[in-house]
Amino acid sequence: MEDPSKTLFIAGGTDGIGLSLLALELKRAQYSKVFVLGRDFRKVDQLLSENDNTLSPARDRLVKVPCDITCLGEMERTLSSIGDNSIHDFVSTTGTYHRGKIADIEVDTSSGAGSDIVADHFHLNCVSIIHLIRLMIPKLVRGASQILICTASLATLARSPYSLQSATKTAIKAFIDTLRIELKGDTRVMNIMPPSVDTRIFAKGGDFRSTDDYQPPSRVANTMQYMLDCPYDICIPEILIEQHQFEVA
Ligand SMILES: NC(=O)c1ccc[n+]([C@@H]2O[C@H](COP(=O)([O-])OP(=O)(O)OC[C@H]3O[C@@H](n4cnc5c(N)ncnc54)[C@H](OP(=O)(O)O)[C@@H]3O)[C@@H](O)[C@H]2O)c1
Repeated sequence: MEDPSKTLFIAGGTDGIGLSLLALELKRAQYSKVFVLGRDFRKVDQLLSENDNTLSPARDRLVKVPCDITCLGEMERTLSSIGDNSIHDFVSTTGTYHRGKIADIEVDTSSGAGSDIVADHFHLNCVSIIHLIRLMIPKLVRGASQILICTASLATLARSPYSLQSATKTAIKAFIDTLRIELKGDTRVMNIMPPSVDTRIFAKGGDFRSTDDYQPPSRVANTMQYMLDCPYDICIPEILIEQHQFEVA
């Protein structure tokens, strides 16, 4: 599947696992164009400036797609500039993280600008990702494309105190399983379920644990490349990377 005219779209390529995949892909130059969707491109810019010799041709191949996927209108407008039938490989690592027992989840029920962490979590991790995939389908090259979504090991192995995380990842896994049936013959659909990975997703969610012992994001990114590189007649529908340690709640 080494076709230099292929295109890659990484939603979530601005940080963590997606950024690691971006770094690997820019180095091996397998794609003629790499689209990167996210909100904060500072790490992408840093990556491009790190090693000019290796990555300088990459600048021409990279297309930034600034977009907040929780805003459907913005996502529709942004993605409308991408031509139909033009993306070969679509990867999404977008997502957020929540830790906490159900009884401890506080929801502001006062009228006005109250915050509902349950709804917000589902909105990003499920609703927005489903809309993103829905909007991407016409952009995919029929008969020669693939979708690879990063869910989590929690999608098959529920754990506490991660009820919201387990719920949204399981829901997306079920969505992907159905999508695989619906797109059969046109687009290969895959799911990768990583364990805890050494990224800033925990800190962004207010959990300042040490992640030093977790697997590096490159381990997941390498596994993603393995899935994407398989010949079209071989589909690895999902890969679970085992959790190397279980925490006590
Ligand atoms: N790290 C782990 O331990 C772990 C374990 C299992 C599964 N996962 C899953 O793997 C995926 C990637 O995790 P990660 O650790 O790489 O997370 P991360 O470092 O926080 O990266 C998340 C990516 O999603 C993007 N994103 C978040 N909200 C967005 C929004 N509203 N609109 C557009 N883009 C948005 C971020 O872009 P900006 O920064 O530009 O906003 C960033 O590129 C997530 O779905 C996560 O649940 C992670």
